[in-house]
Amino acid sequence: MSTHEPAPIPRLHVNIDHVATVRQARREAFPDPVEWALRCEAAGAHGITCHLRKDRRHIQDADIHRLREVVTTLLNLECSLDDSMLTLAESSGSEAFCLVPENRLEISTEGGLDVIRETPRLRDAVPRLTEAGGAVSIFIDPDPRQLDAAAALGVPFVELHTGAYANARGAVRAAELERLTEASRHARAVGLRVNAGHGLDFENTAPIAAIEGIEELNIGFAVVARSLFDGVDRCVTDMLRLIEGARP
Ligand code: PXP
Repeated sequence: MSTHEPAPIPRLHVNIDHVATVRQARREAFPDPVEWALRCEAAGAHGITCHLRKDRRHIQDADIHRLREVVTTLLNLECSLDDSMLTLAESSGSEAFCLVPENRLEISTEGGLDVIRETPRLRDAVPRLTEAGGAVSIFIDPDPRQLDAAAALGVPFVELHTGAYANARGAVRAAELERLTEASRHARAVGLRVNAGHGLDFENTAPIAAIEGIEELNIGFAVVARSLFDGVDRCVTDMLRLIEGARP
């Protein structure tokens, strides 16, 4: 059953992109990210996330169609503001969309979308995706000015970029955690619901899962990478336990 109901404990949405990265390394039919998504669901994941990039470096158009046929939790599609990507997103049948910046040379999504600068394009994209039937989120840095701009657009969700937190250590990481905590508070005060993700792993997720108001965590690389050693079922179960244990 798919749901956007507020949950007392953050939901785990597994990002399956990098299963497709391995497949595309050889242009083979395996490992199949769709089959892997079903294993995540069977292990308890609450949703499946993927990013259809313009360069098609991992997820392919056919994957989206196949995911739509079999995913029974919630399908969350990340896409850029490029018109051709929005057109594909509109016909994808996804229950959720996350608008992300996209830079051809980046290794992964590097920063949040600059909502202030992109407001004109967002004014077109948000109603298009909402009409397509999905709850729209914007991937955003934990910056109050960006959050205010997102609220002004009337999106229901933002996804807070946790990359700076994940990359930092010691006092800098503590400061980034504080920024995310404050951003979650600010977002809810201006009427936004809050998700988070990027760079989260088995060591750094618990403090993020403990932040009040965060409803959903999008986690990809760490789960895919560790599953090579420990298997997908154990990795999803371990991550779910870790998230559940982070809330009092
Ligand atoms: N959330 C968003 C918006 C992303 O773009 C990504 C990376 O594709 C993730 C979450 C997941 O990041 P990671 O693979 O580092 O867990």
